[in-house]
Amino acid sequence: MSAQDKDLFKAFMEEHYDEQNRIRYDKIDFIDEPGVGKIVWRRGTGDNVELLDIEVTSQRRTGQGTILLLRMLNSLKQNPPDSSIFGFTRTKNTIAQEFYSAMGFTVQEITGLYPEGSATLFTAEYDMLCVKWKDQLASVRKIYL
Ligand SMILES: CC(C)(COP(=O)(O)OP(=O)(O)OC[C@H]1O[C@@H](n2cnc3c(N)ncnc32)[C@H](O)[C@@H]1OP(=O)(O)O)[C@@H](O)C(=O)NCCC(=O)NCCS
Repeated sequence: MSAQDKDLFKAFMEEHYDEQNRIRYDKIDFIDEPGVGKIVWRRGTGDNVELLDIEVTSQRRTGQGTILLLRMLNSLKQNPPDSSIFGFTRTKNTIAQEFYSAMGFTVQEITGLYPEGSATLFTAEYDMLCVKWKDQLASVRKIYL
């Protein structure tokens, strides 16, 4: 990169990635409920929200994953994503795909993301999820605020 290119790049970064943006894009949020599970997310491209990880450490298939996801939706209410929630999971993780589908996400296989095999992209509009889970969100909000 030439010195002129470096200056242009620096100017671009200063204009578009000021302190506020850096904080916004670097910020990872999570809910960690010891003995139950955790969910982790961050701001991603287009000011959407990337779901980085969800794991239920208690008995699975008893609704805890659903509750964690609903708690995340509630947390985002103050500062919702521009459009969607998205994330990636390994294609061999069929349980995760069943889970995201049941939650209302569209899942589609993509190649070239992980060295050991294909990945599955899951996406859903935030507003759609809030409508789909409206009643359950209200109940979860009462319990966890
Ligand atoms: C994915 C995960 C978080 C789901 O949590 P959970 O508490 O078991 O999920 P829920 O009980 O809320 O399930 C909600 C729905 O998802 C689907 N689902 C969940 N587990 C499933 C399974 N083993 N097989 C088929 N469908 C499943 C079902 O439709 C289920 O509804 P139902 O039980 O009424 O049929 C959990 O399996 C987990 O921690 N997996 C390991 C970590 C992981 O792979 N995380 C994903 C990283 S991208």
